[in-house]
Amino acid sequence: MKTILITGVSRGLGRALTEEFIRVGHTVIGCGRSEKEIMQLQKQFPSPNDFSVVNVADDSQVAAWAKKILTSHATPDLLLNNAALINQNAKLWEVPAQEFSDVIDVNIKGVANVIRHFVPAMIKEGRGVIVNFSSGWGRSTDAEVAPYCATKWAIEGLTQSLAQELPPGIAAVPLNPGIINTDMLQSSFGSAASAYLMPDEWAKIAIPFLLNLGPSDNGKQLTVPV
Ligand SMILES: NC(=O)c1ccc[n+]([C@@H]2O[C@H](COP(=O)([O-])OP(=O)(O)OC[C@H]3O[C@@H](n4cnc5c(N)ncnc54)[C@H](OP(=O)(O)O)[C@@H]3O)[C@@H](O)[C@H]2O)c1
Repeated sequence: MKTILITGVSRGLGRALTEEFIRVGHTVIGCGRSEKEIMQLQKQFPSPNDFSVVNVADDSQVAAWAKKILTSHATPDLLLNNAALINQNAKLWEVPAQEFSDVIDVNIKGVANVIRHFVPAMIKEGRGVIVNFSSGWGRSTDAEVAPYCATKWAIEGLTQSLAQELPPGIAAVPLNPGIINTDMLQSSFGSAASAYLMPDEWAKIAIPFLLNLGPSDNGKQLTVPV
């Protein structure tokens, strides 16, 4: 059974992955910003599962979280950089500076922060897979989501570069999860989001796919087969 580290477990894909990984017998280490949801998860899924209130955009919070986790749990076999924000639909010149910064801080710097504090332990163990959540909008574009697209294109580049740096035995991949009916999709698609898969249905497809990833996948641009 594996130790799975997931950022952004309070809602959406991260939440669905958490519930399904635990249901099939794995241990989940997760974080999110919403205290109420994190406390509820810890109550529902006790130790060895471990849920913490962490803002991935804050490097010192991620550092403290990694120190706690790496001294009390096995090194993650699978690190899922899932947490992200999307801007409210708007033309780029209408996106407030603070909102633009928040999307960059969580979607790019947050991923780098988690990699900075967890990947050295994975390298020491000589194994593990890092999955950085990208998007269809990390490989194509649409109007009114420019900040989000910029971050997901960045994730593709960051992950390819990381893949070239990792020692044998470790893999990093950018992953397009497909299109799933979450809060994030409802923000960009409105009521049209209801035509897409629900997160719990998606997780049943995504988990066997994720568990199958290994060193030979390093650097591949992947998409969940939904
Ligand atoms: N849904 C789709 O169709 C779709 C398509 C392509 C790509 N994706 C990607 O898939 C991933 C999951 O998306 P989703 O649809 O599940 O989004 P979502 O429903 O909005 O959930 C996002 C999760 O990330 C957490 N989060 C946000 N900012 C955070 C921060 N600073 N620190 C820690 N956690 C944070 C949120 O929890 P808190 O608010 O509690 O922090 C929440 O649990 C994202 O990377 C997204 O870009 C989704």
